Amino acid sequence: MNNFRVAFVQCKPTFGATDANLEKGLALAATVDAHLVVLPELWSTGYVFSSHAEVAQLAEDPSTGATAAALRYAAKREKRFYIAGFAEASRGRYYNSAMLVGPKGIVSVYRKLHLFEREQEWFRPGDRDLSVHKVGPARIGMIICYDWRFPETARVLALKGADVIAHPSNLVFANAQQAMLTRSIENRVYTITANRTGTEKRPGGTVPFTGRSQIVDAHGIPMARASKTAEIAMAADLDLDIARDKSLTKRTHLFRPRQPKFYRDLVR
Ligand code: ACM
Repeated sequence: MNNFRVAFVQCKPTFGATDANLEKGLALAATVDAHLVVLPELWSTGYVFSSHAEVAQLAEDPSTGATAAALRYAAKREKRFYIAGFAEASRGRYYNSAMLVGPKGIVSVYRKLHLFEREQEWFRPGDRDLSVHKVGPARIGMIICYDWRFPETARVLALKGADVIAHPSNLVFANAQQAMLTRSIENRVYTITANRTGTEKRPGGTVPFTGRSQIVDAHGIPMARASKTAEIAMAADLDLDIARDKSLTKRTHLFRPRQPKFYRDLVR
């Protein structure tokens, strides 16, 4: 048994209300005991941007922004790690990103690779490799929301040694949570989907979100799952050894029989 306790926060950010969103999300996080807490995509800003001016006003440089500062403070005080979505500003460019923050500060920033709908107007697609980070005894990878539709993302992280894939989300397709069970099964990894609830109604559009955040075990079984609407934090104990044992049977390994030379179409 190689125990690692994780949690998600499911909440309903208010567009543009960064301070209130940070306060509420961290208050929910404080209700759970866990080594790692995952918060939703674009947690501090809300989702439905309606102009480039709004993006420029609300996006943050992680070295100076309010989201990073709040997470650094919480992680240091609580001696644990956070992953949370935020709008990133970097040298005049904007990304839909997630940061991994620990007691010593920011560990990594992942920039969403696969942008959905109007996100393509506001953000650039990610320009950094999918990567795996040591968090205590665990190896953690990040994807963001619609990245779920591209199984390559989870596979790459699993091949790089991830035990756990954190998935900050603002999900709109009702089958995404189901697909994440499959991401867990096909890679034998734990997945944590931290989704948001509610409907955002703005000049940029009306978007209802699907809630049902979940922690899924390495066999694809949900260990914790929220309702569609609750604002709640939930936790589960992971046994990392299960994700690290890729032997499906005595003679069948999950990854060794792969035939990459027949997968070339995937990377054309
Ligand atoms: C999404 O990627 N937020 C649907």
